[in-house]
Amino acid sequence: MKLNKDQIRQFADEGWIFLPECFSEDEVAVLKAEAENIYNEDRPEVWRETSGAPRTAFAAHTYNEAFSILGRHPRLIEPLEQVFNEKVYMHQYKINAKAKFTGDVWQWHQDYGTWARDDGMPEPRAMNIAVFLDEVFPFNGPLMLIPQSHKHGVLDAGHDTSTTSYPLWTLSEDAVENLVDQGGLIAQTGKPGGVLMFHGNLVHGSAGNITPFPRKIVYLTLNAVSNYIRKPTREEWIAHQDFTPIESCADNALQAYAQAYLQKSA
Ligand code: SIN
Ligand code: MN
Repeated sequence: MKLNKDQIRQFADEGWIFLPECFSEDEVAVLKAEAENIYNEDRPEVWRETSGAPRTAFAAHTYNEAFSILGRHPRLIEPLEQVFNEKVYMHQYKINAKAKFTGDVWQWHQDYGTWARDDGMPEPRAMNIAVFLDEVFPFNGPLMLIPQSHKHGVLDAGHDTSTTSYPLWTLSEDAVENLVDQGGLIAQTGKPGGVLMFHGNLVHGSAGNITPFPRKIVYLTLNAVSNYIRKPTREEWIAHQDFTPIESCADNALQAYAQAYLQKSA
């Protein structure tokens, strides 16, 4: 899947684009079912909120077939190859739960801030591409983005290791207020199967979820191969050190897997 001129322009100017209806109902159904299975496993890659609810599952592409196919999907890989003009590898892979009633906040941050400081990534030539598994409403902790904030480079940040179970380099309230004055603020809602891609320096965050509606989103962090990380400090399954370029699977691979899966479980 290739981005058109308008999408490329919006990405350059605003730092994000949303692509609705990228994945079918069947494709999403199998990913949702498998995400729940993974959250029920007792494994180090599944991190929990302080309440015990799942927060994120790392590296599912390495131990789950459906998420492995998603991690090679041309609808996600090709747009990033197009933007970076080279092959990409998987730097990080997360299935964020934002569980009903207890899903916790993600403070204001830039992704590249963490990749640079914690992983020794040379340039912001990596980015998150997110697949919505549940409907994202205005009220169940949508991702909030500050348009155009990617144009400011890496901003000062403090290492917050206490607000949630996930350590994060977070921005000050003053910095966020200034950036919102300049670029505004959007909350990206959308149906399951929609895809959001955003620049590694785009400032974003999300509030807690006190509704009965979970908000599962899968994030592939794809890094340009030449921009491989130089100084890893985190576990291999958080910041991968296998820099092999991803070869995309066939466009119908996940649909075929989903049909067989759903037939078997019917
Ligand atoms: C992230 O920024 O890495 C996750 C935010 C979210 O899932 O709300
Ligand atoms: Mn982030």
